[in-house]
Amino acid sequence: MRRAVGLDFGTTNSAIAVATADGNAHLATFQAEGQLTTTFRSILYFFHPKDEDADGRQVVAGPEAIPAYREAEPRGRFIQSMKSFLGSRLFEQTQLFNRVYRLEDLIAVIVRELRTAALDQFGDLGSAIVVGRPVQFAGAQGEDDADFALERLQAGIRQGGFEQVTFEFEPVAAAAYYETQLDHDELVLIADFGGGTSDFSLLHLGPSMREEAESANRILGTAGVPIGGNDFDSRFIRHLVAPELGANSEYRSFSGKLLPMPQDLYAELERWDKLSFLKTRQTLSMLQSIRAQSLEPKKIDGLLHVIDEDLGYQLYKSVESTKLALSDRDANTFRFDEPPVAILRDVTRAAFEIWIELYLRQIGDCIDGLLAQCQVAPSDVDSIFMTGGTSFVPAVKQVFEQKFSPDRLRSGGELTSVATGLALCALKRSGHWGT
Ligand SMILES: Nc1ncnc2c1ncn2[C@@H]1O[C@H](COP(=O)(O)OP(=O)(O)OP(=O)(O)O)[C@@H](O)[C@H]1O
Ligand SMILES: [Mg+2]
Repeated sequence: MRRAVGLDFGTTNSAIAVATADGNAHLATFQAEGQLTTTFRSILYFFHPKDEDADGRQVVAGPEAIPAYREAEPRGRFIQSMKSFLGSRLFEQTQLFNRVYRLEDLIAVIVRELRTAALDQFGDLGSAIVVGRPVQFAGAQGEDDADFALERLQAGIRQGGFEQVTFEFEPVAAAAYYETQLDHDELVLIADFGGGTSDFSLLHLGPSMREEAESANRILGTAGVPIGGNDFDSRFIRHLVAPELGANSEYRSFSGKLLPMPQDLYAELERWDKLSFLKTRQTLSMLQSIRAQSLEPKKIDGLLHVIDEDLGYQLYKSVESTKLALSDRDANTFRFDEPPVAILRDVTRAAFEIWIELYLRQIGDCIDGLLAQCQVAPSDVDSIFMTGGTSFVPAVKQVFEQKFSPDRLRSGGELTSVATGLALCALKRSGHWGT
């Protein structure tokens, strides 16, 4: 039979898996910082034309992007979170060093790398693939934008080497993964918390349901919010970093009036997808003129440094290590040391939980809405399967502990359940399960 292939193109991490007829799915592995991993960071680094790598490549993806970016002189462009652009009509293409790239071109670079790794490890993959999609795309304003996002995602994946693309909701894929562990039937709420979105699905799962391929009566409903770990990260920038880079400072206008700093600039600083696009001649020259009139010029120097040196990756690392530590401990120190900018601040989990309160409420409301739409009471749900990297956040777990009871919460496959489940969905669609 042909291979059943599933691809999770994630906001933060991507993964690819191949299922065999016996119902087992295998994840492709990648080399990252001397270790084998089953996830591939969804990042790109574009070399500066004066600094192309030895093979003459213009762009590298995933784990290779980090050392290329770190060692670069002069600095090229580091791109993170490109999935967040899919639903937004404002991002169609970007010019990077005299070349124009459509979003599809950027996605194709990642897909090609995943495909090559899977080809090397599993042999011929065929041309068909099942790809995950969030229920709600980040940045999408309605059904039209979701269709627009899907068209572009499909085009990027085709360009990356898979001709026949079909989609599955990411939480439905995670359900296929969870179902392999079940020896009895359950009504399950799947909750997948990623970097860009949180996605939910309510389904009947279990041995007697497994035969019902693609059956609509298995899936009671799906729902999602365009909120994820990136939104949590944005709060670290807002509360710890932006004030040190002049967010609350003022400058003198030509008429002598005191003006606040342009807040849209700091809003972009908070978003991993937007940060590296702040570096335009226009923004840099605007900041230079503001700096000359600023009441706190050192802070504006810091902002100019972060933008001009494209320090998005260093900022991301600082935020991520603090956030991850706060999943395990009550307090941690936030460190960002890139002279002339030096930020050292203690952060408690309690403070972080206040920062993300609004997001937690939106997540809770989304689940309530899904249960109501399906006419299911919380007590009817047998188990809740929580997956995705952001499900490690204790406050996210608490939302579920409060609505359901802690003994019904399950977790696992945080970074790979969706890719594994997608390969299983591909196998089911191919009609070869158990053949
Ligand atoms: N231990 C942890 N504590 C808190 N957050 C974590 C932890 N581990 C990972 N994360 C966060 O999880 C997110 C990545 O999760 P995941 O790989 O599931 O997302 P994704 O699939 O790339 O995104 P999406 O599904 O939204 O497209 C990041 O925001 C990351 O910072
Ligand atoms: Mg995901």
